[in-house]
Amino acid sequence: MTAQVIDGKAFAARVRGQVAAHVARICAECGLVPGLAVVLVGKDPASQVYVRNKHASTIEVGMESFEHRLPAMTDEATLLALVGRLNADPAVNGILVQLPLPAHLDSDLVINAIAPAKDVDGFHISNVGLLGTGQKAMVPCTPLGCLMLLRDHHRSLSGLSAVVVGRSNIVGKPMAQLLLGDSCTVTIAHSRTKDLAAVCRGADILVAAVGRPEMITGDMVRPGATVIDVGINRVECDGKARLVGDVDFASASAVAGAITPVPGGVGPMTIACLLANTLTAFCRANGLPEPEGLTA
Ligand code: GUN
Repeated sequence: MTAQVIDGKAFAARVRGQVAAHVARICAECGLVPGLAVVLVGKDPASQVYVRNKHASTIEVGMESFEHRLPAMTDEATLLALVGRLNADPAVNGILVQLPLPAHLDSDLVINAIAPAKDVDGFHISNVGLLGTGQKAMVPCTPLGCLMLLRDHHRSLSGLSAVVVGRSNIVGKPMAQLLLGDSCTVTIAHSRTKDLAAVCRGADILVAAVGRPEMITGDMVRPGATVIDVGINRVECDGKARLVGDVDFASASAVAGAITPVPGGVGPMTIACLLANTLTAFCRANGLPEPEGLTA
């Protein structure tokens, strides 16, 4: 079998288009514009690229983008004071503090200082609890993007067996909660799982979020399964830098029914879902109906 390749780039463009159309309608009807504030502390090169992309995408869908760049030696009180001001600013509907923060800053403390209703990353402990108890939450962007791709591909996820490989707070755990919310039978596997290959072969839906290049191989995939590859790993190949996922695409795509590529699969969905979350936060803050198909 050769798997259908799930085009996350095209899907993300559709999501951004839906967000832009919704923003334009709100702007015409109410004269209001959703706003996203992004805070970057220091000059981590990868973070600078992410923040630049987030700014450009936010402007592109017609939202306001507020960028706050602080020096690497910023102290915790200064950062917390900025978060407090953004919490109180009615023009700001979403707040994202780019991670990782410099080592002298306590990420948990800073993230939990964000007003939960503006926590478009879904990392605040209140949102984690709301998601875990099946209540209306802000949902982390990458797992939300995976869920959208899966809902688009399968008519229903109900009753399907899902295996999430990876137990991070940002992807693995919320992904499992979302799949459970859609009535999958969910297993979280990780580095200590016994006979990982056999566990993975039990999956109708296999989500790889381990951060290890190409560790999920075709022999670990059930024939016809849907494989979602969250990994983005830079590797050297014949002296050239290359991006690969957590899944060995060549062998897995020979067995799977559908598979996301790297690049062009889950990656583009993350920013699209950040914009969707900002719109959702705006609608909730203003008592407007939430955009359909853009939330969990
Ligand atoms: N750093 C890398 N990815 C992310 C993300 O999704 N959110 C935040 N806040 N920081 C990140």
